[in-house]
Amino acid sequence: MNQDTAWMALNYRPPLPQDKMMGIAIVGAGEIVESAHLPAYRMAGFHVVGIYDIDGDKARRVAEQFHLPRAFGSLDELVESPEVEIVDIAVPSRRLLDVVERAVRHKKHVLCQKPLGETFAAAQRIVEVCREAGVKAAVNQQMRWAPGIQASHQIIDRGWLGTLTQATIQVNVLTPWDHWPWMTSLAGMEFLYHSIHYMDSIRYLFGTPEYIFADSAKFPGQPWLADTRTTIMMRFAGETRGLIQDNHNNFAPEDDWYATFRFEGSEGIIKGTNGALYNYPVGRGDTISFLSKQLSADTWISPTLEGKWFPHAFMGSMGELMLAVEEGREPGNSVEDNLDTLRMVFAALRSVEEQRPVWLGEIDQ
Ligand SMILES: NC(=O)c1ccc[n+]([C@@H]2O[C@H](COP(=O)([O-])OP(=O)(O)OC[C@H]3O[C@@H](n4cnc5c(N)ncnc54)[C@H](O)[C@@H]3O)[C@@H](O)[C@H]2O)c1
Repeated sequence: MNQDTAWMALNYRPPLPQDKMMGIAIVGAGEIVESAHLPAYRMAGFHVVGIYDIDGDKARRVAEQFHLPRAFGSLDELVESPEVEIVDIAVPSRRLLDVVERAVRHKKHVLCQKPLGETFAAAQRIVEVCREAGVKAAVNQQMRWAPGIQASHQIIDRGWLGTLTQATIQVNVLTPWDHWPWMTSLAGMEFLYHSIHYMDSIRYLFGTPEYIFADSAKFPGQPWLADTRTTIMMRFAGETRGLIQDNHNNFAPEDDWYATFRFEGSEGIIKGTNGALYNYPVGRGDTISFLSKQLSADTWISPTLEGKWFPHAFMGSMGELMLAVEEGREPGNSVEDNLDTLRMVFAALRSVEEQRPVWLGEIDQ
């Protein structure tokens, strides 16, 4: 098989809906909306009709910066507006349920920022209210649409890795947790707000593991309550295994930082970098190399990927919800699907606490 031709057929860019004129209204005008949601939606050509934040000045400033038609004066005004079809919610997780309930009461579809809940019960409640309202509801677990992960998904889908054996994501960076003061009082912060992306991406590529065995620790002198060095071991059915390892305290100059992924199987290997975590806060493009015995066992294929986890992948999480609305189906990143990612998160937290492997089935109660 000609390698170039094979690669050319791969499309790692986020699929977008035909109808880009569905009205999107955003709740929360914080850091992530300004740096990722709105830049991505501008790239995609999505139709954002307005924004609301409990801090009205913030909403007005962001509306002006991105030339949005309006800053809503209240949440009621937003959810009652007929031009709003999708409510894109980016508030701290503990405020999510209230906004979801008010949006779905008016039959708006919702895209919820992760984590869907700081407890499993809170996330389950969101799934219930969305189901009862009969709307489409998705989670902004956008790393699935990062170029390196999307490309890996296509390579795995084609069977080029053969039987999957090992998924590994390793990160060693310096994370400015003080940017998110509402998060730092939470003991499970790293798992719930950061490693959740890696757990979701691995689940997207490899399926849902049977159990998780995790450990975590602090860095000497750190001011945060939560552990900031984490190791998560995943056991899947058969011989497949996974590993996520994070250190957020790398004080060395940035050329020492790394954020890598490696996905392995009986027939092939994918290795790459998650560019968004390099050259902080600007980031750089993802890289990927793969080889497969089915193509050429000793030649690495290294296509150039365009785009990043932040902001480009945000076109994917919203795009998938819009496609689901357009096609009358459930989104792949549905709130229901996300419960399995949260089972991984809460299994990891319980594993640390109880120092034992935790089966995902234990998390339902
Ligand atoms: N998917 C990702 O990669 C990613 C990255 C960063 C943050 N996030 C998530 O996005 C959410 C927001 O994060 P952020 O970094 O923008 O935080 P932030 O603190 O910068 O912004 C949060 C904003 O929400 C507003 N807000 C709070 N409660 C509100 C309410 N009830 N109604 C309207 N506005 C309200 C605040 O005034 C603030 O402007 C969090 O849930 C976080 O986990 C996701």
